[in-house]
Amino acid sequence: MTALILDGKKIANELMARLHKEIDSLIESGARPGLAVVLVGEDPASQVYVRNKEKACADLGIHSVVHRLDSDTSQDKLIDLIRALNESSEIHGILVQKPLPGHIDDKAVIGAISAEKDVDGFHPISVGNLLIGDEGFVPCTPAGVIEMMRSAGISVDGKRVAVIGRSNIVGKPMAALLIRENATVTVCHSKTANLQEVTREADVIVAAIGRPNFVTPEYVKPGAVVIDVGVNRLPDGKLAGDVDFEAVKEIASAITPVPGGVGRMTIAMLMKNTVEAARKTLE
Ligand code: GUN
Repeated sequence: MTALILDGKKIANELMARLHKEIDSLIESGARPGLAVVLVGEDPASQVYVRNKEKACADLGIHSVVHRLDSDTSQDKLIDLIRALNESSEIHGILVQKPLPGHIDDKAVIGAISAEKDVDGFHPISVGNLLIGDEGFVPCTPAGVIEMMRSAGISVDGKRVAVIGRSNIVGKPMAALLIRENATVTVCHSKTANLQEVTREADVIVAAIGRPNFVTPEYVKPGAVVIDVGVNRLPDGKLAGDVDFEAVKEIASAITPVPGGVGRMTIAMLMKNTVEAARKTLE
């Protein structure tokens, strides 16, 4: 069997086209969506992510402002900026790019963002709403995974799903979203004993480990769906996912490539959350 390749670029572009129309009508109603991105320091990967977010906003007609701060910016100064953005009527979404420099407490910074503008879905109120199944912003990468599967006609209802990775950005919210979709979810991580035994039971694997080509065919039940959230830079400069794509595609029923898979969806979901935040101001 050769797997169906899930084309994140195509699915994300379709979503962006739908958003474009919605943004045009929001602009007509006087609520042009606005996104503020805050980048502290010079992390090269973060700089690329932030540029991609800026470009997506420009493509769709979303007002965007990027605040680039020195790596030695104090926590107080950063929080002052966030408070000013909370008050700005032009800004509907605020995103603080991670990772933050070591002297800054992530929790204090994310907690300072108004929950109404938390388009990253990292604020404790958003996390709580996700867990209790209430309305609120959902982190963009796991939301993108769900959207991608839905648009490819893949249902997880009643299925066994193994999530590899337990980060606050991907693994934990991914598990919560999958439960919402009626999946039976196992969250695996670096301390999981007999990992392959667990993942081989799964109908769907979501890999978010941060180790290049970690998931080999030995981890995968033939016919399983394999979603690769990993973005790893190899010594030769090339990108690799967490899944050994070439080998695993021979036994999976569907698989996402890296690049061109989940990454595209993440930005589209950020745009969707920003549009939603702007629309709510009209309610
Ligand atoms: N760093 C890596 N992924 C993300 C993300 O989704 N949001 C933010 N703010 N930072 C990140």
